[in-house]
Amino acid sequence: MFEPVLTKYVNEPGGHTLDFYVQHGGYQALKTALGMTPEAIVDTVKKSGLRGRGGAGFPTGLKWSFVPKDNPKPKYLCVNADESEPGTFKDHVLLERNPHLLFEGCVIACRAIGARTCYIYIRGEFYHLQKQMEAELAKARQAGYVGKNILGSGEDCDIWIHRGAGAYEAGEETALIESLEGKRAQPRLKPPFPAVVGLYGCPTVVNNVETICNVPLIIEKGHEWFAGIGPDKNTGPKLFCVSGHVKKPGVYEAPMDTTLRQLIYDYAGGIRGDRQLKAVIPGGSSTPVLMPDKLDTHLSFDGMVAAGSMLGSAAIIVMDETTSMVWVAKNLTHFYKHESCGKCTPCREGVDWLYKILDKIERGDGEPRDVELLLSVCDNIGGKTLCPFGDAEIAPVLSTIQHFRGEYETYIRTGESPVQSDFRAAEP
Ligand code: NAI
Repeated sequence: MFEPVLTKYVNEPGGHTLDFYVQHGGYQALKTALGMTPEAIVDTVKKSGLRGRGGAGFPTGLKWSFVPKDNPKPKYLCVNADESEPGTFKDHVLLERNPHLLFEGCVIACRAIGARTCYIYIRGEFYHLQKQMEAELAKARQAGYVGKNILGSGEDCDIWIHRGAGAYEAGEETALIESLEGKRAQPRLKPPFPAVVGLYGCPTVVNNVETICNVPLIIEKGHEWFAGIGPDKNTGPKLFCVSGHVKKPGVYEAPMDTTLRQLIYDYAGGIRGDRQLKAVIPGGSSTPVLMPDKLDTHLSFDGMVAAGSMLGSAAIIVMDETTSMVWVAKNLTHFYKHESCGKCTPCREGVDWLYKILDKIERGDGEPRDVELLLSVCDNIGGKTLCPFGDAEIAPVLSTIQHFRGEYETYIRTGESPVQSDFRAAEP
């Protein structure tokens, strides 16, 4: 099995503290980076092949290089720690157990893009982490790793932790920026991309927590080391969140040439009760369901696209044979209905209709036309919203109909689920 680097010390008592971090080689990469030019840092990250870990897999070094050098406005780094995608809990582990790796990465990334201010936007529900992170940040500031004249270099960079109010949409980068500016977390039209016009109208890079945590490792161990892990164009260590019907759910660190089968059966111990696997959601609830015939696919950005889904936030939700796929679609649609920010009509109204139809089927009142009606509503949402929320909310409905249409039709015909579930999940 892969020797973890991002999560190497997460189970050590006191592993989150500054003392522990420094004793185990922490902040050495910052010292190295302070001796590098910003261009050299961007170049190193580009050569490593690091791709964004929030979901889209956009090349990080390329994103940094979009920040205009000749723009006299201040530049900002925003770390997206609004981890809210159902099934996703990898960033939480880093924020809780390895915050100094993140702080170190923030200061290096700020140097690379010419920013002196970084905001770490943590989700509203992470209030329990805020206190601990702020205490550790204060220690890092005190020790000269963050703040004014970092390690006597003349370089300034401060970090602020900002906690949101608990809205999924705030994780969309332009909604996050709106929220930081004190407004409702609703998306902006892109382009312009934040790298050019972001926070307070200034060039802003928004990066995910895990993405930034990889930066000190790349500087310390070299881009060749990073690029040597995993398949071509899908390099570096990756955190996977495994949940659902497995024996050992949790966060696992592995290269991206690990297959879905290896992750479920070797890392997560296989299916509970040794039952049959029915389906997997591979990248958080916004990504299409995969069937067991895709078990030997690499868990990489490109591998998951080739299999007909996405790696997304690497949240692998495993469902065994006792899972009703109509219930899955209804449960996830309830989440999206609750979280739609309401700005775009197709999303706001459409998701409400999707939920009403799915609820009707689940109550046993479905009509034969309902499957086509669901598909028609999805067609009126997909690609018709400002942000990817619209596409996300239709993914569970479309992909469960694609693979389990018979289950929907039997449910509608008989008024009962054809799946024998021995568990009753909480009703949404
Ligand atoms: P995107 O593909 O629009 O953008 C990716 C990043 O690249 C953004 O930062 C964007 O500004 C930048 N970018 C793209 N083209 C650019 C250009 N020409 N110039 C400058 N910058 C450019 O995807 P988005 O909307 O940022 O993310 C969608 C993904 O987020 C989904 O695939 C989903 O998996 C994931 N997601 C993750 C969640 C989580 O909790 N981690 C929650 C919800 C969704």
